[in-house]
Amino acid sequence: MAATGTVLVVDDDPAICVVVGEALRRQGHKVKTAGSIRERAALMDSFTPDVLITDVMLPDGDGLEGVADIIAARPALSVIILSAQNTLNTAIRATEKGAFEYLPKPFDLNELTRAVSDALGTRYEADGETEAGGLPHDGLPLVGRSPAMQEVYRTIARVLSNDLSILVLGESGTGKELVAEAIHSLGQRRTKPFVAINMAAIPRELIEAELFGYEKGAFTGAHARTAGKFEQAQGGTLFLDEIGDMPMEAQTRLLRVLQSGEVTTVGGSKPVRVNVRIIAATNKHLPQLIEENRFRQDLYYRLNVVPIALPALRERREDVILLARHFLERAAQEGLPRKTLADDATQLLMVYHWPGNVRELQNMMQRLAVLSRENVITGEILRNMLPMDAVPADYAAPADHLAYAVRDWAKRQLGVGIGQPNRNLHDDLLAVIEPILLQEVLATVDGNQIRAAGLLGINRNTLRKKLTDYGLDPLQLRLTD
Ligand SMILES: Nc1ncnc2c1ncn2[C@@H]1O[C@H](COP(=O)(O)OP(=O)(O)OP(=O)(O)O)[C@@H](O)[C@H]1O
Ligand SMILES: [Mg+2]
Repeated sequence: MAATGTVLVVDDDPAICVVVGEALRRQGHKVKTAGSIRERAALMDSFTPDVLITDVMLPDGDGLEGVADIIAARPALSVIILSAQNTLNTAIRATEKGAFEYLPKPFDLNELTRAVSDALGTRYEADGETEAGGLPHDGLPLVGRSPAMQEVYRTIARVLSNDLSILVLGESGTGKELVAEAIHSLGQRRTKPFVAINMAAIPRELIEAELFGYEKGAFTGAHARTAGKFEQAQGGTLFLDEIGDMPMEAQTRLLRVLQSGEVTTVGGSKPVRVNVRIIAATNKHLPQLIEENRFRQDLYYRLNVVPIALPALRERREDVILLARHFLERAAQEGLPRKTLADDATQLLMVYHWPGNVRELQNMMQRLAVLSRENVITGEILRNMLPMDAVPADYAAPADHLAYAVRDWAKRQLGVGIGQPNRNLHDDLLAVIEPILLQEVLATVDGNQIRAAGLLGINRNTLRKKLTDYGLDPLQLRLTD
């Protein structure tokens, strides 16, 4: 386990101070925070930190100015610079001033906590002893530094010190439950229980009994008074997972409990006061369910005080490799052989469409850690693990590259095409792609139109007409390579 020390975090964004401060405290460091150069100077004297983490753009000046003087006066101090000005210039200036490390914003929290451990002199030994609860869980459990995830972190930071209801939205496997756990375990209720209930996993008729508890004899099999999830979560957080699957009657009852702050068990009559923070999650589109009279609008407003929308993994491709390495690292921490990714494997990970999101990536990396005999995971090994339809047997990347290129093209065309009602995107795209395909196929079969038509799966007359339309000369195609 890394050494602990004292850390001063300087950033004018209170959200960053809270999140970074909390992550470092969880690793056992003593942390103070400051929002300006003036506050920083005061704490440098009174708090004498081992590590100074400082932002560059501060309200009362340039945070880098003065760093050289601070280091001159305190040579043992390590300085880590954070900056949203992701320019090479900032990185260079930071190095010139004697900074130990420079992290461009948005940064990854685990990377930051690791930099602090490094700065304190005990390098994080990946293949050394693993202690229970070691990295990465003593940092923040959420990995990713894409802008979309930074936005999620900022929202999380804002809700840690209050009890506002939170609605976590996102596709299956995007990390909704992880976010709920993070909010609880970093927030002011962390010493109290975190209780989760999944509406989709419990028979509908038992949901109310599970949530609110029941009295002895309330229904067949109710042998003794049993506390519901609300009472179990007393003082802590109740996570209502898959809220979109909650039956209407239970919704009505839930709303009443949220409004009154009191729970009455099934079959009971004496209400019990409950104090719980509610975090709900769903992968459904609740406004649509409201339209269909399957979700109560008033309950929706009650739950959706602070929405947190988790991006799908394909919308934050810059995080895929980070996450993949994180899961391989975690597998290694759990005693499995350490595996690394070859370049062609990382390319494949980037283009794949990740229907199962982070969960799918995590499962894949775990399987690779267990099953693969090689220590370096190649594109070929990876390709064999991806579903057949995602990856053509011979080579995966081109089809995905094409899909990616088409999506990109369509987006740009739509941006450009506003106010151009005569656009025909479909024909435009086909006019680009189809002649390329025809030329390739004809070249492969040496210009033989019958074989080409067979390979393309169209009849020969259609092929001939297309060639004429595109102005392609089949005789010349025979000569291309
Ligand atoms: N940003 C992340 N960093 C690290 N691990 C993550 C991240 N997001 C998700 N995971 C991991 O991926 C898996 C799926 O996450 P989680 O169960 O929170 O998803 P979910 O959105 O609740 O999915 P579902 O809708 O299917 O219940 C978990 O094992 C979780 O630890
Ligand atoms: Mg979930």
